[in-house]
Amino acid sequence: VEALKIGVAGLGTVGASLVQLLKKHQSQIALKTGKTVEVRAVSARDRSKDRGFDTSSFEWFDDPVEMAKKADIDIFVELIGGDNGPAEASVRTALQRGLHVVTANKALLAKHGVDLAVLAETNQVSLNYEAAVAGGIPIVKALRESMAGNEISRVYGILNGTCNYILTRMETDGLSFEDCLADAQRLGYAEADPTFDIEGNDTAHKLAILTSLAFGNKISSDDIYLEGITSITTADIKAADELGYRIKLLGVAQRTDTGIEQRVHPTMVPKASAIARIDGVLNAVAVDGDFVGEVILVGPGAGGNATASSVVADIADIARGDAGPALGMPAAVLADYKRARMRLHEGGYYIRLS
Ligand code: NAP
Ligand code: HSE
Repeated sequence: VEALKIGVAGLGTVGASLVQLLKKHQSQIALKTGKTVEVRAVSARDRSKDRGFDTSSFEWFDDPVEMAKKADIDIFVELIGGDNGPAEASVRTALQRGLHVVTANKALLAKHGVDLAVLAETNQVSLNYEAAVAGGIPIVKALRESMAGNEISRVYGILNGTCNYILTRMETDGLSFEDCLADAQRLGYAEADPTFDIEGNDTAHKLAILTSLAFGNKISSDDIYLEGITSITTADIKAADELGYRIKLLGVAQRTDTGIEQRVHPTMVPKASAIARIDGVLNAVAVDGDFVGEVILVGPGAGGNATASSVVADIADIARGDAGPALGMPAAVLADYKRARMRLHEGGYYIRLS
């Protein structure tokens, strides 16, 4: 069986789970894709750190850019994080060298997505990012592939596991915001800088990617109305409860007469709605397509194992030779395409739900 050689840059929450998953399910992945997927090279800052597995059989790189330049690999997997620095430099280097790239880095894609997609297509390699949106939920594939025959009118959902975990535990266990955030960090859900989670930026990065896939707009999180959950108190949650609502941080993108409206903010959702019942680290993404109707996907939105599962989905696509244009349409088309127009929502923090 032909081997597909992998380099993993970043051995933190997601990278460590990925290495363990690929080892545990190597034969199953080979059966399903026709190739053995083998980790050959790894990169992280601290070589002496205990990662829960032996790293001595892999070629070690302190610098991920060096790994992208020199390692004997077919796929460069970026699990470092950040929209610049070593993540950006190593991904660019890998694409320029003609390596396929898989990343979970929504911040990088939200800032440089179109640029990187052009680079991938110019070099005839794949740029895959299922894990970048909603952790273990296969929403990128759903939009790029399964719903390709639909005109999409709306995409919305709970896109950040940390915030949903915080809001849920504040409500069900009466814990303080700070205690819930500390727990989310301990469980590996939060970003390295958790202000990205709680201020809504992470949801905006993911929404920008979904908007691009759904509506063909350029990825740009600058065009999104943004409000996080830092001002939500247990009193707000209790008041919403008494009125028949729960508070969820939603990302919403919808087609309107004047353009694509994009917004991220805490939202009062009716308790009877499907979205109100999504608790803890779970995420949910709802998509309205003109032929299929409403599709709702639910699953773990963060955490090492769930996210690694999506990273492997991308690796398996490359193994099968399935990868299409990175952004759901050729980048050359997208580069000339419109930016999403943000129209400030009217009527407060509300979304019409059936
Ligand atoms: P993490 O636990 O902080 O791990 C980051 C890894 O990158 C660490 O192994 C770190 O090395 C390495 N690293 C950082 N700077 C480096 C540098 N300059 N050179 C080499 N290695 C460097 O992060 P994570 O939670 O796994 O997240 C990784 C990516 O996945 C991020 O883009 C994140 O947004 C995304 N993501 C995370 C989740 C999740 O649930 N955690 C879910 C979906 C997507 P050391 O270990 O030596 O410090
Ligand atoms: N920090 C992110 C979250 C990780 O909590 O959803 C998954 O993208």
